[in-house]
Amino acid sequence: MKRLPGFRDFYPEPLPDGEAWSANVRKHIFDVWHEIAEFYAFQPYDGPPLEPLSLFTAKSGQEIVGQLYNFEDKGERAVSLRPEMTPTVARMVAARERHYKKPLKWYSIPQLFRYERQQKGRLREHFQFNADIFGEADPAADAELIAMLIDLLRNFNLTAEDFVIRLSSRNAWQDFFNQNGGDESKAYDFYQAVDKLERTAPEESEKKFQALGFTLEQVRDFIDSAEPTEELQAVLDNLAARGMSDFVKIDYNVIRGLAYYTGVVYEAFDRHGKFRAIAGGGRYDQLVSLVSGGKKEIPAAGFAMGDVVLVELLKERGLMPEIPGNIEVYALVEDETKRPPTLSMVQKLREEGWCVDYPFVSMKPDKQIKRALEVGAGFTVRIEDDEFAVLNYFETKQEEKVPFGELGNRMIQIICADDSE
Ligand code: HAM
Repeated sequence: MKRLPGFRDFYPEPLPDGEAWSANVRKHIFDVWHEIAEFYAFQPYDGPPLEPLSLFTAKSGQEIVGQLYNFEDKGERAVSLRPEMTPTVARMVAARERHYKKPLKWYSIPQLFRYERQQKGRLREHFQFNADIFGEADPAADAELIAMLIDLLRNFNLTAEDFVIRLSSRNAWQDFFNQNGGDESKAYDFYQAVDKLERTAPEESEKKFQALGFTLEQVRDFIDSAEPTEELQAVLDNLAARGMSDFVKIDYNVIRGLAYYTGVVYEAFDRHGKFRAIAGGGRYDQLVSLVSGGKKEIPAAGFAMGDVVLVELLKERGLMPEIPGNIEVYALVEDETKRPPTLSMVQKLREEGWCVDYPFVSMKPDKQIKRALEVGAGFTVRIEDDEFAVLNYFETKQEEKVPFGELGNRMIQIICADDSE
């Protein structure tokens, strides 16, 4: 049985030949995501992976609707696996916002499903870090999100030479569209054509724009001449105050494919333009109103970063995290009469917070040592008598008799002495 195309198995390290996705690397990525979100004072939330189909059909826009993993469930409900998190979080906020003080700063790490053509940087499932702020219309909220996006990428050791956040504004595009006689009912088609401009042949884009009453030249001139709007200037000034100006630039090629954006929008790209977007987001002040049938009006802004492009980029830059083994101590069982006291010692060490492993069944001593080396344990420990254990530190081949109760302290002393040499 093979896995479905566009889906991944995540194996533990060391990875078998031909497998690209490491469960340990994924854990590291999630750890960084959680850590930075918490530094920025965001709170975790989650929602269901399966939602009513209608949550996405009206809200996400045609591009995502064409990629939905949808079906009818046994209760004859039209349902879909979530292709993105934003409609879900908007629904959750609309339902419970009165319970919370504003602004809300929420984050989540959902697995998402899109029935896309599989290609570089695009799979049929991926994990996405989502961060959103509800209840604050000021560009200060957009700037806070962009600053967090920068810090997330910096914490994977990427620098201003590796990535840039291209900042744009749906408002600026909306003004351009209206001032040049665009038909409001076609605005989303126009945004889609702009979104695809960099990946589409010029003749094809020209045709699309002409059908909407524009020329490609007119669109290109607007992109080239674009000045930051007032809101974008506020974002730039805010980021400058944090010393983050090197990580952003105004670029009106960005408009975002999703239907709900209303103001500042942005995408993070690698500087060399080799990969698809690492992350994207923006302001979406009308979505909560849309999902609540007009009952709630709450300004919102957020972004999401996927794990697929991030790993591709880290691999290319030689920045994949080193995954150290986590086993610190390997307990040797010299002979089976010593198994019960060994289990007691293993248990005590684990309760003290040490990561300990040991052989399940009788095994030759040299095999046990080999296993301890393979798993990267720093120490072996074996029962000597009723009071003492023999501790062995691989690094210095130091061996000594230590009373049971002193094992933890002694290991810390040995590690510290070794580190300071
Ligand atoms: P998005 O641009 O569709 O935005 O996705 C954000 C990121 O998720 C992309 O930049 C990309 O790295 C990753 N991604 C998207 N689709 C795939 C795929 N099929 N395979 C691998 N990676 C993928 C959103 O989803 C918005 N809901 C973000 C947002 C949050 N806006 C406001 N709040």
